[in-house]
Amino acid sequence: MKLNKLLMPLTLTLSSVCSFNATAVVEDVEQGEQFGIIDSISDKQGYKYRALWKEPQDTKMAMNNPDLYAWRLFIAMNWPGNRDNCRADQDKEFGAQGYSTWQLWREVEQTFLPNAQEPKSWREACRTATDAELFDRPTDPRYTTLADEDTRLNRAAYNHVRKNKLYSRDEQERLVAQGVKSLVFPLKAKEAKANWVRIDEADKPRYHWVETESEGVTEIWGLAGLHIMTRDMPKWHWSTFEHVDNETRWPSVYPEAFRGWDEIPSSDSAACPADNLACNQVPEGLGIEGTRWENYRLRGSQIDWVDNRGKPTILPNSKIEGDFDQGSMSCMTCHALAVKGESNDGHFPIGLNPGVNEEGLPMGYVGVPSPELFLDENGEEVTYMELDFMWSLRHAQREE
Ligand code: HEC
Repeated sequence: MKLNKLLMPLTLTLSSVCSFNATAVVEDVEQGEQFGIIDSISDKQGYKYRALWKEPQDTKMAMNNPDLYAWRLFIAMNWPGNRDNCRADQDKEFGAQGYSTWQLWREVEQTFLPNAQEPKSWREACRTATDAELFDRPTDPRYTTLADEDTRLNRAAYNHVRKNKLYSRDEQERLVAQGVKSLVFPLKAKEAKANWVRIDEADKPRYHWVETESEGVTEIWGLAGLHIMTRDMPKWHWSTFEHVDNETRWPSVYPEAFRGWDEIPSSDSAACPADNLACNQVPEGLGIEGTRWENYRLRGSQIDWVDNRGKPTILPNSKIEGDFDQGSMSCMTCHALAVKGESNDGHFPIGLNPGVNEEGLPMGYVGVPSPELFLDENGEEVTYMELDFMWSLRHAQREE
């Protein structure tokens, strides 16, 4: 018999005395040991709980059970945040309305300041964050543009950028000149990139939403897509989530912004049976059912360039990559091209797109990056420093 079943009655009894009970689930020890998955905490009686609100840090699980790990990230990062310390608020329940924890992280625009000024300390930035900083309102719901992305760095990623002055383009170039081949972010580094859609009052219970007011007009924006990258592994762990409405509803309303799920089905081994990984469900037993988050789906996760048959792994978000060719989207391959050349201003010493598809949508590179991509037009190796897959570093500014 599984230990969690044995412990079940105990949980019920404990619920009255245990302060974090609402936010925790009894650990399934067998499963935990099999996958090495549980970031557990113990209560005074020694019972172990999964701390689902806790930002997970588990390379073993990221490698062996990447889809389940993606869900754990999703839950922890979407746990309602505490604005006082910019962490998950253990006293709130998953699904409660309010800013998600990742929204309390630092946005790219607050990190890469004009003239490469030093950005605020994490603590100071957290203490002074305004609503406008916590939600980056998209400009036009009809299209997907780079400018409408809401990109956030967690504490470890932000502190690494700040401490090493990576917000300065000149500093990046000094590193290239010194012969540094690659940046290396700490294992705790995480980044999120979100995209929103205009929703109606009636949609609110099915969405994570933010309400804004500009010039007397109230707008409700629902979370439509969320990319997550975490540095648990040398080439990161990649995953992407979408609202179920992205499958058919939004593509019919905003055909220019949403590509739908027809071309690339989801793949989720945490929620689906092995013979139908595209079942489009949420995993059971993690406290997602019955909350607004049950309307979100893992479209997939990525930890390698190719699968075990040598086929390139593909993973688009039909909203975030809504203006790209879906069949040639590979998080890792595209992000591997994030490098800094010696002096170029554009941060694109290497081409991002190999061309366009029949619809005119830009395509991406897939599979193992070709060494040829890293040569200039004369076939010479381009001098560059890898940015550790972090495209947002191209927002670094010139010093005064
Ligand atoms: C065709 C190229 C391409 C593909 C495919 C792609 N990205 Fe990105 N990604 C970018 C670029 C370019 C940026 C930076 C945008 C900017 O400048 O603001 C970015 C930014 C991000 C960020 C913000 C942090 C950062 O520094 O890079 C995250 C997180 C992210 N992508 C995750 C993903 C995930 C997860 C996938 C796959 C599901 C993915 N990306 C697929 C090009 C790509």
